[in-house]
Amino acid sequence: MCGIVGYIGSRPAAPLLLDALKRLEYRGYDSAGIVTLTDKFNVKKDSGKIAEIDSRLDLADLPGTCGLGHTRWATHGKPSQRNAHPHVDSFGRVAVVHNGIIENYLEIKQELKKRGFTFRSDTDTEVIPNLISFYLSRKLSPEQAVRRALSQLEGSFALGILIRDNPDKLIAARKESPLIVGLGKNEMFIASDIPAILPYTKRVIVMHDEDLAVLFSRALIIRNLKSWRRTVRKPTLVKWTLEMAEKGGYPHFTIKEIYEQPAAIRETLRSSPAEISRLAALLLRSKRFYMVACGTSYHAALVGKYALAKLADYQSEVVISSEFQESCRASAGTTVLAITQSGETADTLKAVRVAKASGAKIACLTNVIGSSITRESDVVCHTHAGPEISVVATKTFAAQVAFLLRLAIETARCKRTITSSQARQLMVELQELPKVVERVLRSTERPVRELAQKLKDVEHIYLISRGIGYPTVLEGALKLKEITYIHSEALPAGELKHGTLALIEPGTAVIALIPPGDARSRMIGNVEEVKARGAWVIGLTDADADVGAHVDWLITLPRTRELFSPLLYITPLQLLAYHTTVLRGQDPDRPRSLAKSVTVE
Ligand code: G6P
Repeated sequence: MCGIVGYIGSRPAAPLLLDALKRLEYRGYDSAGIVTLTDKFNVKKDSGKIAEIDSRLDLADLPGTCGLGHTRWATHGKPSQRNAHPHVDSFGRVAVVHNGIIENYLEIKQELKKRGFTFRSDTDTEVIPNLISFYLSRKLSPEQAVRRALSQLEGSFALGILIRDNPDKLIAARKESPLIVGLGKNEMFIASDIPAILPYTKRVIVMHDEDLAVLFSRALIIRNLKSWRRTVRKPTLVKWTLEMAEKGGYPHFTIKEIYEQPAAIRETLRSSPAEISRLAALLLRSKRFYMVACGTSYHAALVGKYALAKLADYQSEVVISSEFQESCRASAGTTVLAITQSGETADTLKAVRVAKASGAKIACLTNVIGSSITRESDVVCHTHAGPEISVVATKTFAAQVAFLLRLAIETARCKRTITSSQARQLMVELQELPKVVERVLRSTERPVRELAQKLKDVEHIYLISRGIGYPTVLEGALKLKEITYIHSEALPAGELKHGTLALIEPGTAVIALIPPGDARSRMIGNVEEVKARGAWVIGLTDADADVGAHVDWLITLPRTRELFSPLLYITPLQLLAYHTTVLRGQDPDRPRSLAKSVTVE
């Protein structure tokens, strides 16, 4: 996730682009840059937060009345000056800002190098201006050169494009990444999101997938990239305030990020097959394999452990980072995978350093390219959830789980515990999950809101499940604790009888997560166990399960494999935590005493 913005009109472009970028910073904040077009491209860019870069480079001090801006959340290539956008092709003909991921950029780069193009960055984006430049050199019109180049790209993009020899137009295109056009008086804008341009215009056209827009200061032409048919779209009048707009119309970042989970899963699954293969190979070479993590990342690691054991018959140990030093031994032949969305958690960095000193190989899975953990690691892997602003982790959990499920499939394929065709089938089903999660979000929102009304004043909530449902309820309980401040405790349902059952009284709230799988009938036995003590039981299960008769409140989810169930079943629990918090009059984005990234031990 990155933020892009563009302007064409009669005002000085750079100050306006800088102002717009500041409002897009929530979409990414590891680098930023601006390009304006006069008789040449004028570029200022660097790594860091926009304010820091601006105080160093004076970003607004660029000539010209048309330009592009970008605020980056790195996906390919660490945050640095040369990887920051905008990118200009080797011959200075085309400038581009990009949000998205180009999957086949390495092949395109090879081809272009053979044709004399040179590359200055490690990004996937840099192939785009060079490919357009190549088609311009073949005498194609700017629009056709862009169209031909984009037809070769696999992946997702929202693009702002300037062509040196056509300073009267700005070209924009989108596929799977958001982009809007803003219509002003004798001026036009593009942006990833409405807040960027809200002070300048409220008349907005939302671009559709496969749209190509050509913006002149007084005209706009939109075509479909494939059919080249022209479309006329009526602008919408935006009524949002600036604050509402930053949150995409949602009242809080927490709920916005819960709704961004399908995209986080999709982007993570489509990116970096090479990272997965490298990590699977390392696992299979290792004598011992630990996953270390804290908080939500620890729960994702537990899902990974179940998946590796079940699919690949592969034994791993999951350790809370702060306990690693006391409880674990590492040596040559040990691999430690650190899972950390921020890449900065002190406890996890410490565990890794301890393991490294004993000769272990280090791998990491992080959402932040270039974060501290990547510098400690031999193998670096990424989730692609985009920046997570809310303190509680939601979409990064989904992305971590998606990555680990994919890792388990690959490890199982390499180990031949499943056949290649079974692996392919599992991958097909996994790639379908973002759509299923979208359905879950739509179908559970209302019943969960009603449930939140019932639970908002309780003092305790117990969550039970079995198997791969156990890490899911652990994560659900953590969400509830973090933002509702209601005491929430998750446990494997089989453990109830060893202690917690003593706390179940008439009216005690118990959430029973009953995903498909061998443990279902035993779970129903556990539901009866708490019901016999008077518990008020909320069941989460799929449409086929005959669970309704055993519970007091039922939330129904689509059918899925047991292995994939955490991605579906966590969603209503996150929604429940969110809605209960709002009903209690608390701020879900800023829970008391907690921080997003804990950099002290
Ligand atoms: C903090 C955050 C949690 C997060 C944990 C681990 O406690 O509040 O949301 O799960 O750190 O963070 P990491 O960045 O290492 O995944």
